[in-house]
Amino acid sequence: MDADELLAALNELLEAERAGVRVALAGRKTASTETMDAFMTRLRDDEARWCAMLAGQIERLGGSASSQCGAFYDKVMALDGTVQRLSLLNRGQGWVVRRLEALIPRVEDEVLRADLREMADSHVENIAATDQVILDMRSGAA
Ligand SMILES: [Fe+2]
Repeated sequence: MDADELLAALNELLEAERAGVRVALAGRKTASTETMDAFMTRLRDDEARWCAMLAGQIERLGGSASSQCGAFYDKVMALDGTVQRLSLLNRGQGWVVRRLEALIPRVEDEVLRADLREMADSHVENIAATDQVILDMRSGAA
């Protein structure tokens, strides 16, 4: 995989994670329970962590980190209701995992590959946690 293709893939992921940060910030503003506020805060921290990792790796590899926010943010915010937004958010996180799983075997740089692996594993965990929050909300427990 050539450097330009790799940097473009990393910037695409960076823009998606930035959209995640903004969704989480918006989610905190409308959180009506402490559980939801804590969930959105954790989500914001996670997404911000991966933004920082991706931006750092892009710079290290000689690229320039995108400052754009993924269009995904507008798609999520166009929906009404926390359950609907979280459901779409989780599909977006699933997209991130699929992109990472396709990318990782093609990355030769070991440091980058390790960071992307950690990002993929963390996303898989968060998808499960978010699914649980969605289930709890649907059953009125959160
Ligand atoms: Fe994410």
